[in-house]
Amino acid sequence: MRKTESYENLRLSSKTVQTMTPILPGAPWLIAHRAMLGVNQPYKITLNGQDYVLWQDSHGNIFALANVCPHRQAPLSDGWICESRNTLACPFHGLEFNGSGQFYDADQQRFSTQSLAQALPLFVQGDFVWTYGATESQATTIPELPQRLSQEMCFVGIAGDRSISADFLSTLRINYDFHHVAVTHRHPFRIAQVTVEGYETDGYHAQLTQHVVRDRNTLGELLQRPVLAFSPQTYSNQFEYHFPTLTSLSTEFPAGKIISLLVIYPETEHQTRTFTLLFAQVSLSLLVPLLRRSIIDAYNLIVEQDVTMLEQCYPQASAKIRLPYDGIISDAETLYRNWPVASPRDC
Ligand code: FES
Ligand SMILES: [Fe+2]
Repeated sequence: MRKTESYENLRLSSKTVQTMTPILPGAPWLIAHRAMLGVNQPYKITLNGQDYVLWQDSHGNIFALANVCPHRQAPLSDGWICESRNTLACPFHGLEFNGSGQFYDADQQRFSTQSLAQALPLFVQGDFVWTYGATESQATTIPELPQRLSQEMCFVGIAGDRSISADFLSTLRINYDFHHVAVTHRHPFRIAQVTVEGYETDGYHAQLTQHVVRDRNTLGELLQRPVLAFSPQTYSNQFEYHFPTLTSLSTEFPAGKIISLLVIYPETEHQTRTFTLLFAQVSLSLLVPLLRRSIIDAYNLIVEQDVTMLEQCYPQASAKIRLPYDGIISDAETLYRNWPVASPRDC
């Protein structure tokens, strides 16, 4: 086989290497939960225009490298993990790199002293994988919010894991927007009214209580989404934010508590990643296997409804009409605009 033919047969993943001014440089970004990584499987993410590959070994150690092979720039995430050396092998010529980016010299049977592939520093707290990305200064510490809220809860799963064709600020706004809930999400959740109280903000952390009034679901809706049967006509959600990546929502139903952690981070200037981590009170654990699919589907639908709205809106302009809770959105926009400038890390 001629060389060109073998190249044609090599299908490499789509790549993102974009020169962009990083969005909120130095912010701590929650980029994954352990459950998203699997074991000994390359997992690709894009953060602020750069592709990275993560993997978790069988001992639970997690590594991340820039996705560009330093030999001839193939995407490392299309490669595979060599378990015996805990290396990531490139899909193009098979060269191997460890989690520090050191190259494995098969002839010498040892690792290079220098890091040839660029390692991405990670901060793993329990099951939550954080990074500051390719920036030197760290504008805020890693939030303790996910670990605090998920304590003594059982992990239900991941919903709404997708890339949105919308810029980061627009995606951020919808998480602080309490006017859209009773409209965008009215079907099939039958949300009739939403009110907010107790809004407090302290720097990057904010919290509030949202009261929801629902109309009754039809039998058809309950059969399609059994989880709606556990959702009463009135209930309250406790929101906690850690700007810019996290929105947590804690809901006490008569059957028990459900917590969702909605995560966003900027992939590129016009593309935003989101996923939602779902937890249920341990007392619900018997119900969770029965309701897991239904709970995840409900949150998938909420995310899809938001995404549809975000992707259909025309480019943002200043709002000519102001609604009562819009001050909450304005506070988030102010944090975004006043974000301290961070310098890039030397690679
Ligand atoms: S491009 Fe990666 S080994 Fe050659
Ligand atoms: Fe929404």
